[in-house]
Amino acid sequence: MIIAIDGPAASGKGTLARRIAAHYGLGYLDTGTLYRAVARDLLAAGHDIRDEAAAIAAARNLDPASLDDPFLRDRGVGEAASVVAGFAGVREALLALQRRFAKRPGGAVLDGRDIATVVCPEADIKLFVTASLEERARRRYHELRAKGFEVTREQVRDEIAERDRRDRERDTAPLKMAEDARLLDTTDLDIDTAFKAAIALIDEMIGR
Ligand code: CDP
Repeated sequence: MIIAIDGPAASGKGTLARRIAAHYGLGYLDTGTLYRAVARDLLAAGHDIRDEAAAIAAARNLDPASLDDPFLRDRGVGEAASVVAGFAGVREALLALQRRFAKRPGGAVLDGRDIATVVCPEADIKLFVTASLEERARRRYHELRAKGFEVTREQVRDEIAERDRRDRERDTAPLKMAEDARLLDTTDLDIDTAFKAAIALIDEMIGR
């Protein structure tokens, strides 16, 4: 079974996807980590974040063993990730790895922006997880403050809004809900309630 979960920044899809994978005994890939790692490697090598050729080279040379890096969740890395994610060559370079993961024996959950539309259009289950901008900003603000980052709620909201705009408006694999996806709006749901709602939706779709 392949479960594709897409949605905008800080919608809670990562936490949900991880719990859904554990619940059904599936592998889990957070595809945002790949774009974050490309941005990290590009900047670490001293390139400009808008250097397309260098970004593509970084994506081709990405070391899957380097994805377990707490720095990837730092403030600013998501922003940089959404810049390199706009390059078609970067997306192309990361496709095979994602598809290989999706086809692993036993099944997988992948979360991102284009999983149901581009990476796994054949997925058995497609969920689009969203929440209001204010609520997503509130969640990311608390996550960043807990890590000791000095940010205001307004800064976080503006950064998320800008990233969503970039993700929705890019030409290649923009963030959008697949026609055959089910919508899960978590604005008024805490994580446990959102998880139960997701499981109910999935069980209904697979006829359990
Ligand atoms: O956790 P959060 O929702 O803040 O972001 P993420 O899922 O780690 O993704 C970081 C950035 O990577 C996004 O803003 C997208 O630009 C890009 N991304 C993408 O283009 N396609 C994906 N499948 C996953 C992430």
